[in-house]
Amino acid sequence: MHRTCPAMKNKRDILVTSALPYANGPIHVGHLVEYVQTDIWVRFQKMRGHRCYYVCADDAHGTPIMLRARQDRIEPEELIARVAEEHRADFADFRIGFDNYHSTHSPENRHYACLVYERNRDQGHIASRTITQAYDPVEGIFLPDRFITGECPKCGTPEQYGDNCEACGASYSPSELKNPRSAVSGAQPEERASEHYFFRLGDFEAQLKQWTRSGSLQKEVANKLDEWFKAGLKEWDISRDAPYFGFEIPDHPGKFFYVWLDAPIGYMASFQNLCDRTDGLAFDDFWGLAADAEIYHFIGKDIIYFHALFWPAMLHGAGFRTPTAIFAHGFLTVDGQKMSKSRGTFIKARTYLDHLNPEYLRYYFAAKLGPGVEDIDLNLEDFALRVNADLVGKVVNIASRCAGFISKRYDGRLSPRPAEPALFAEFVRAGASIAEAYEGREFSRAAREIMVLADRANRYIDERAPWVVAKAADRMQELQDICSVGLNLFRVLIGYLAPILPGTTEAAEDFLRIPPLTWDVLSEPLVDHEISKFKPLMTRVEPKQIRAMVEASKADLAGADTDETHARTPRTEGYLARAPIADTIEFDDFAKIDLRVARIAAADHVEGADKLLRLVLDLGGETRTILAGIRAAYDPADLVGRHTVMVANLAPRKMRFGVSEGMVLAAGPGGKDLFILSPDQGAEPGMKIK
Ligand code: MSP
Ligand code: ZN
Repeated sequence: MHRTCPAMKNKRDILVTSALPYANGPIHVGHLVEYVQTDIWVRFQKMRGHRCYYVCADDAHGTPIMLRARQDRIEPEELIARVAEEHRADFADFRIGFDNYHSTHSPENRHYACLVYERNRDQGHIASRTITQAYDPVEGIFLPDRFITGECPKCGTPEQYGDNCEACGASYSPSELKNPRSAVSGAQPEERASEHYFFRLGDFEAQLKQWTRSGSLQKEVANKLDEWFKAGLKEWDISRDAPYFGFEIPDHPGKFFYVWLDAPIGYMASFQNLCDRTDGLAFDDFWGLAADAEIYHFIGKDIIYFHALFWPAMLHGAGFRTPTAIFAHGFLTVDGQKMSKSRGTFIKARTYLDHLNPEYLRYYFAAKLGPGVEDIDLNLEDFALRVNADLVGKVVNIASRCAGFISKRYDGRLSPRPAEPALFAEFVRAGASIAEAYEGREFSRAAREIMVLADRANRYIDERAPWVVAKAADRMQELQDICSVGLNLFRVLIGYLAPILPGTTEAAEDFLRIPPLTWDVLSEPLVDHEISKFKPLMTRVEPKQIRAMVEASKADLAGADTDETHARTPRTEGYLARAPIADTIEFDDFAKIDLRVARIAAADHVEGADKLLRLVLDLGGETRTILAGIRAAYDPADLVGRHTVMVANLAPRKMRFGVSEGMVLAAGPGGKDLFILSPDQGAEPGMKIK
């Protein structure tokens, strides 16, 4: 057993996962926050000499994937195979170093999904009962809540989802919607009864509470759990009716596991698949109750519920160990706003790669990532400045300032004696704090501390001015010493940056003619060692590359499909077809609606309402105060001063948070995906829209 081998005592066994991307859309820069974050952490652990395994897979099941395949008139298997190839290529090109990349639609996953279910069932943790649900008679499928739209039963706002109203905040069940429609076919849904299976989450309250208190959860995650405990742990519906793309439930023909049951089990399946082809790697050493390996799940904050409640509970019920910790991160915005196809900021991994070096983005994310769940912003201007200043201007510059002299004057040989031991020791000592930062996922701190060292190395070169020394024939040894010190400092810096910049590190290792760097070897300098001729390790980011990438992302709009909707609402089955066109009306009906250009004079949050903004609209002299369900989509500060379009003669409506005197026009499925309409330039507040 490798774990008990005494020679390896300081070695940890660590299994790391990233969330499994859905198999019906491309990888985009938002996803990459997670895969880059995880990959940096894993590479760091490996460099430290730990046995660390990084597994992932495509999340291949569920209604959106089934519908997407139907839409494309192919079998789901064909869709997921095609997407898997694209995902693998994107990840490989971003140097995400998975030890295994599998699929939830795999024999291993079927095995563990059934096992986890059967063990829970045998322990009495599965209940069954008949529920009625909306059924789409045209598509022949039961409709998830998010696939039903209609008028809010409380305030009458049209096109609201089946779970809650974006305008007044009311929660209700889809059966209460007025004039409900299937978002897939536009048909009127029918009520149908069917038997469902439920996981009794409440059975695990004590274990879950203990897990929360274990101290290994982030503060934000622990707080969320406390909220959920207070709200009460509800039974979780783990079954779906045929037709469904997934695994059929043992003993229940026509019933399938809900995608979120078998998705996290995909972590186990991928690991099993790795064990099957790796000598000495045993599944039970990681997942067995007695395992002392560590397991970490990196996830986005939108899927904490699944990972912090259902997942550990299911594992408990099935006699497996629970994860050591869950590491949640925030969401990516681009230039301060949610990614948008029309602005060209919905950037696919592939589009980025067509224009820019992946190392840039890895560094930029690292420089912004901390251990918490705050959102992070990719500011494209700052991105170029930061990468150019830090990586090109500071780090690579050290090598390019020293390498030429070494190859031209000393046949590529570094000095036979180590010089500046105090300075070198200072660099080595700084490694402890940098390592601590990596371990704690404080990557921005690691990057900052490394850049302080890079500044120090450049200052050393400035002070010793090798280009001056080079002019004096009697200072040959000194010149070799200075440049050797510079290159040795560079080597330490590249070692510290290696988890973030695997490609640059490889190129630097070639240049320095050294084997792959580990953390331990950094404390000894290279002495009397031959290096290769220097080739630039990285070029500057050019603004025109960024412009080209943004333009190409806008062009992707031409082939627009459901990707964007999907990517922004990953936590739901976020597929929404275009809403059906309503019944024809007469001109007179239209003329009753007084649409006006309005200037947003003020915009504020509404205390206690998490969906609403209070807008004061200027109609050219007259003002109206309205409550608009657009809080998730807009920062109030960005709205003030903008022109928009409002229904000016809508009867005032009393809502839970006050009276709303009209309505602004907005398009989109809702939540973050709402876009208020703007008139063209020249339209002034108060103008009537005809
Ligand atoms: N399939 C589920 C996860 C199942 S894990 C057992 C899923 N897939 S996803 O493709 O929508 O998202 C994959 C991961 O990427 C999630 O952790 C999600 O939070 C993350 N991100 C997706 N969009 C993101 C941003 N814009 N920003 C940061 N992370 C984002 O959820
Ligand atoms: Zn409402």
